[in-house]
Amino acid sequence: MTACQDWPEPVIRVQALAASGLATIPERFIKPKSQRPTNSNNYAPKTNSSQIGHHKNNTTNSNIPVIDMKHIYGGDEGKRAETLRLVSEACQEWGFFQVVNHGVSHELMKGAREVWREFFHQPLDVKEVYANTPLTYEGYGSRLGVKKGAILDWSDYFFLHYMPCSLRDQAKWPALPTSLRSIISEYGEQIVKLGGRILEIMSINLGLREDFLLNAFGGENDLGACLRVNFYPKCPQPDLTLGLSSHSDPGGMTILLPDENVSGLQVRRGEDWVTVKPVPNAFIINMGDQIQVLSNATYKSIEHRVIVNSDKDRVSLAFFYNPRSDIPIQPAKELVTKDRPALYPPMTFDEYRLYIRTRGPSGKAQVESLTSK
Ligand code: OGA
Ligand code: NI
Repeated sequence: MTACQDWPEPVIRVQALAASGLATIPERFIKPKSQRPTNSNNYAPKTNSSQIGHHKNNTTNSNIPVIDMKHIYGGDEGKRAETLRLVSEACQEWGFFQVVNHGVSHELMKGAREVWREFFHQPLDVKEVYANTPLTYEGYGSRLGVKKGAILDWSDYFFLHYMPCSLRDQAKWPALPTSLRSIISEYGEQIVKLGGRILEIMSINLGLREDFLLNAFGGENDLGACLRVNFYPKCPQPDLTLGLSSHSDPGGMTILLPDENVSGLQVRRGEDWVTVKPVPNAFIINMGDQIQVLSNATYKSIEHRVIVNSDKDRVSLAFFYNPRSDIPIQPAKELVTKDRPALYPPMTFDEYRLYIRTRGPSGKAQVESLTSK
């Protein structure tokens, strides 16, 4: 697979389409029945999957774990150990959790979300200056994958590089609103710190040196970090489409700032989809495919998707904490034994992410196809 130079079809800006006031969505956005959100009531009573068979579209009213980070650096060893245990449990049982008291300024979180909302509400020509291509994906985009005739997701996005510094080019970030570049610089700095702390906890929980995962990603100056800001316009037929199709994140770890007012993220749990209820001022953390590979599948990346609704737009900021793109990633030696051989061959993240960049979101197909057993 090589990277594609351009989109196979003229790009459809979903926000502009939604704003045109159409009553039905174009066929290009209608998902096959098996992928549709059958139950758009986010607080639906728990369904019993054994009664209705193994259907992958049940929704449940449970929530992902919420973890208070305040004791991580508080000096109380017992409380710190308990927090590590909660993170360990969340990583193994869910692959997703929310964190509060994470050290990132609440003002900055609010500011970052608002400045991006303003960005998307500017006239189309202001945004089109940053129109992206599938070569690097940097900029203003509306699809993931280059398969001609693919069924599209109900969202637009902006994608930018924050780390390594050699790839951080503020000229590629929106110039308007005028405060965007400085807010996002500051936001990136704080999120990278938070990500470092969480990677340390995960390394310790895996029985590895505390700097193992960060070093595997290239160390603090070389790791890859990028931001994908998602804009999900309100949709006249939310039951027929998805804001973002089911996928696992290809990178290392994702730190998501969800919309404070509108839910939409759903996490796969067995045969069910759990709609995440964001806690005020929390981040949502999940592990991507690279941590599944490095941990030799002790930790697994989890499928997730986004549903849309008919009355509110939704904005989310997904900060991806990734390996530097040219380092071969493979299972940690400490986690490979005679009984549990390495499940994945070494591969750089550059090679790895070509798959999703070409085919678009496709559940866990890629990481599962690599397992050598
Ligand atoms: C993503 C993602 C979830 C959301 O950008 O990879 O899963 O809630 N986003 O927008
Ligand atoms: Ni994702």
